[in-house]
Amino acid sequence: MLPAYIPSPLAAVFGGGKAIDGGRNMGDGRRVLGDGKTYRGLFAGIFFGMLTGLLQLYYLSRSTTLLSVELPSFGGEGITASAVIVIFSLAFGSLFGDMFMSFFKRRLGLKRGAPFPIADQLDFVLGAWIITYLVAPAWFSANFTLPIIIAVLVLTPLLHLSTNIIGYYIGVKNEPW
Ligand code: CTP
Ligand code: MG
Repeated sequence: MLPAYIPSPLAAVFGGGKAIDGGRNMGDGRRVLGDGKTYRGLFAGIFFGMLTGLLQLYYLSRSTTLLSVELPSFGGEGITASAVIVIFSLAFGSLFGDMFMSFFKRRLGLKRGAPFPIADQLDFVLGAWIITYLVAPAWFSANFTLPIIIAVLVLTPLLHLSTNIIGYYIGVKNEPW
């Protein structure tokens, strides 16, 4: 999950500048995505998510355990094209899920930053999973077994809340959610 967890907080740190929707509104008079979704955030997030995955691949090429826990692989041995594609799908998918939810929030009339409980905590997980499942179904099914899916769904909101509280206090998040 690391390549999917890293993009959102790093988008918050590096985001800003031109909005992905170019400031445009939909027919309902509301922004397509809003000023909280920028190109800089998107590219910085994908970049750091992929960097994290590539560092994981490098670690895996030297050892398949960490603190004697067997580590999952991204598919294949070493830096294979399929492993890089899985890493990209996790990183891109997480920000895609985040954008999709902003689109949905704007359609519901929620302003940028308005809280949308559960969706705010899990949109990026579902985005990462759906995109990765579409791109690499065999890898996804082999690695995201039911107990792992449940563990991720329980742990992610806690991780998300704690990183956002940190982000709020260091001033990169406007709201602590
Ligand atoms: N961010 C960005 N580009 C992205 C995603 C996030 O620039 N693709 C930055 C924005 O500065 C944003 C911050 O990260 O304000 C936090 O992201 P998020 O909580 O997803 O955005 P919100 O501002 O809460 O907007 P929304 O209501 O659309 O979720
Ligand atoms: Mg938000």
